[in-house]
Amino acid sequence: MVTTTPPKSAAPGWKPSSWRDKPALQMPHYADGEALAAMEARLSSYPPLVFAGEARALKAELGRVSEGRGFVLQGGDCAEAFAEHHPDAIRDFFRVFLQMAVVLTYASASSVTKVGRIAGQFAKPRSSPMETQGGLELPSYRGDIVNDIAFTEAGRAPDPQRMEMAYRQSAATLNLLRAFAQGGYANLDNVHTWMLGFVADSPQGHRYRALADRISETLAFMRACGIDPSTTPQLRSTDLYTSHEALLLGYEEAFTRVDSLTGEYYSTTGHMIWIGDRTRQPDHAHIEYCRGVNNPIGLKCGPSLTAEGLIELIDILNPRNEAGRLTLICRFGVDKVEKHLPGLIRAVQREGRRVVWSCDPMHGNTVAAGGYKTRPFDRILKEVQSFFAIHRGEGTHAGGIHVEMTGTNVTECTGGARAVTEDSLSHRYHTHCDPRLNAEQAIELAFLIAENLQAEKQGRSAREAA
Ligand code: PEP
Ligand code: CO
Repeated sequence: MVTTTPPKSAAPGWKPSSWRDKPALQMPHYADGEALAAMEARLSSYPPLVFAGEARALKAELGRVSEGRGFVLQGGDCAEAFAEHHPDAIRDFFRVFLQMAVVLTYASASSVTKVGRIAGQFAKPRSSPMETQGGLELPSYRGDIVNDIAFTEAGRAPDPQRMEMAYRQSAATLNLLRAFAQGGYANLDNVHTWMLGFVADSPQGHRYRALADRISETLAFMRACGIDPSTTPQLRSTDLYTSHEALLLGYEEAFTRVDSLTGEYYSTTGHMIWIGDRTRQPDHAHIEYCRGVNNPIGLKCGPSLTAEGLIELIDILNPRNEAGRLTLICRFGVDKVEKHLPGLIRAVQREGRRVVWSCDPMHGNTVAAGGYKTRPFDRILKEVQSFFAIHRGEGTHAGGIHVEMTGTNVTECTGGARAVTEDSLSHRYHTHCDPRLNAEQAIELAFLIAENLQAEKQGRSAREAA
């Protein structure tokens, strides 16, 4: 690995390649090991995508969320795709994401940290390593960074060149996002106007109008006090962080760099990386890799995770109990969340561990309908509502949501105000992997979560007054 700075500190026994000595699930087999090694060596000399200082800033924000102040909105594609790399898609995602954030900020009366599943979310774990179609068996599609979705022998062969393509797409996406975030597009007045447009168009707009009107009044009041985007830089720009599942460890290793300011190791493929529900075995490669980089880390928590298993993973991933280091992304499914979540919360509370609790209401709620994988909007919403209710009951902070979404008008999840039906799934079913909320469903979810955030806020005020 090419680094210009020697490390000052590293986790005991850890180096960027120490994952290679552990069993690794969900990793592709490359036929040409030399070509793979050559590509990894090349990538290790390329510029990092993010700067360690940015990852620390995100960790500080998440640290505040872990203390009950603030909320994390994490979302984006299930899998980014080379064929869908288009500025309009990035813009539309960003626009919807900002609208969600404004609604959530107002409702929670606290800052909302925005973390995209974007600019690096290319590698996918699969339930089966092989796929059979019409009697032909080929390797499963593992995301564009590994192989092609086309069901041909050549398409499905893992190709190391794809890592370079994923890096370049990530760099271009991140560049545009930074321009949007800082260059004036994210101006609060713009976001507010888009949000009012959503409310005007939505068949359920009357449900959201009261909250939208209160946001409008607040902005008018602020303007009367001289606080508007022309006078206040914070209202002209925003921070958007990036994240992805750190699945393809050779790629991650190539971008593991020593921060020249602190001498610590960071992953520089994104600000936050997470560990999938299928690759969180404590003695395996993905946990080994993640324990040694200093970024904020997400850990997917599914129904098979026990309270003891969770504490063991927290010991490994956050031995210093640093606030903001670990976000537990809970993805149980609407019918399982009540059974599994309280035990995990109690164990974490009993052990005094600092974590952010986030709810991924997507991955436990996937069903099959008419030959498609889909997710009913009402199940997604109900899992989020249960997540909030459980945290209210335990006296802990429901700190965020993690969703698969897009800024366009796809038909992948059923339901929502402009009800997508099972029959209409085929109209615009574009995802390369899991079904995503479309633009309207995503903003609608934010409005419905806002009701829960307001209930939490009222509960807190009542406790403080008592
Ligand atoms: C994902 O987030 O796309 C994913 C595969 O999730 P999980 O690891 O929770 O199944
Ligand atoms: Co997914």
